[in-house]
Amino acid sequence: MTKLTILTLPDKRLKTIAKPVTEFNHKLQQFAKDMLETMYEAPGIGLAATQVDKHIQLVVIDISEEKNQPLCLVNPKIIKKDGVQIHEEGCLSVPGIYANVKRASTVEVEYFNEKGEEKKLQADELLAVCIQHEIDHLKGIVFLDHLSPLKRKMAMKKLEKEAQNSD
Ligand code: NI
Repeated sequence: MTKLTILTLPDKRLKTIAKPVTEFNHKLQQFAKDMLETMYEAPGIGLAATQVDKHIQLVVIDISEEKNQPLCLVNPKIIKKDGVQIHEEGCLSVPGIYANVKRASTVEVEYFNEKGEEKKLQADELLAVCIQHEIDHLKGIVFLDHLSPLKRKMAMKKLEKEAQNSD
């Protein structure tokens, strides 16, 4: 098991657009395992490949308290969205910053698992938030991009300050 390094803002590599996965091989399955391990250790409830500087369309998620319901979504596509919810979000790539983000309240997502099996999932509440947040990463979008320019600026300032303090 390899623990992967998570990129943090303002790293420009977080803006990279991920490419679809075309081969479901052992290497991909090992990468999915490493992603889960890295997410659990962080700890976090979701991680996109973009965040570990691997630009393929793969995200891992586990919102369960027991950390025993891992999901791996490869080439995920949201095919239906409904309603509105506002939820406070954070991100392993934006340490120490939390902000309310408006998102769809339910989503239907089509994806492949790490073995290449086609799947479909309907999600609401936190899982819907998480799916939308992680799929955003694959498009080079972080949750701060959903905030007003002023709120984003304040968040970036706070982030810079915390980075200085931790040096
Ligand atoms: Ni994130």
